[in-house]
Amino acid sequence: MTITLSSLMSKYEPKKLADYTTFNLKTLTVIHGYPQGTLTRPLLLVGPAGSGKTQLAKLLAAEVIPDMTPYDIRFVDAAEDPSAKAIKSIGQTVHTFARNSQNLRVVILDEAHEFTAQAMASLKGLMTKFPSLDKGVFFILTTNHLSGISDPVRDRCLILEVPATTVDDVLPMACRVLDGEGIAYAFEDLRTALTKDSSGLATFRDMWGVIEDIITRRSMP
Ligand SMILES: Nc1ncnc2c1ncn2[C@@H]1O[C@H](COP(=O)(O)OP(=O)(O)OP(=O)(O)O)[C@@H](O)[C@H]1O
Ligand SMILES: [Mg+2]
Repeated sequence: MTITLSSLMSKYEPKKLADYTTFNLKTLTVIHGYPQGTLTRPLLLVGPAGSGKTQLAKLLAAEVIPDMTPYDIRFVDAAEDPSAKAIKSIGQTVHTFARNSQNLRVVILDEAHEFTAQAMASLKGLMTKFPSLDKGVFFILTTNHLSGISDPVRDRCLILEVPATTVDDVLPMACRVLDGEGIAYAFEDLRTALTKDSSGLATFRDMWGVIEDIITRRSMP
């Protein structure tokens, strides 16, 4: 049977917040602060492409309270619909009763810098109505351009900088995938393949590219 990259990704990608590995203390504090109830403000995840913002937003949404359900999580990609209408539609439906015991909904606004000025203004209004988790809505915004988020929206959020990942961050995951699939490799060669340049930075997307190369080479006659 041929292994496809997408099947590997769904098999090995973090399924739980606990699977989300990071060496960053601030990130860890925030990841645990929301489920513990010590943090309640809207969360704005800022970081370079591929640092894991969208992934983290989804994992945190699912575990922010113990009985969160997928029906109570709304995912909005601002790149797809940056209009004020997108925010308005959230405002109109977010009041409906949630299916969890705390009557909490999560709204993920992915690539939030894409929102138009008018959408940002509507979002400010909505966040004023629901300023914290205990008011019934948990907003999680992601962006790689902090300057694209309006000041009033930024001010209402806890800003978490998700740092660029390094070879050391992605290497354990690459090993886990290859070990799990019984694919032999030399550790140092793998490290070299994951190292793009002298910066030591490497994204999980780069890692999947390297895995794909290894699988492709292996299936060549
Ligand atoms: N801590 C992690 N452990 C394992 N895999 C991760 C981790 N963080 C991210 N990934 C994987 O890396 C890939 C990119 O992550 P994601 O899409 O969340 O990045 P992003 O910061 O939202 O990027 P962009 O700015 O391009 O939207 C995904 O396949 C994701 O599953
Ligand atoms: Mg993203």
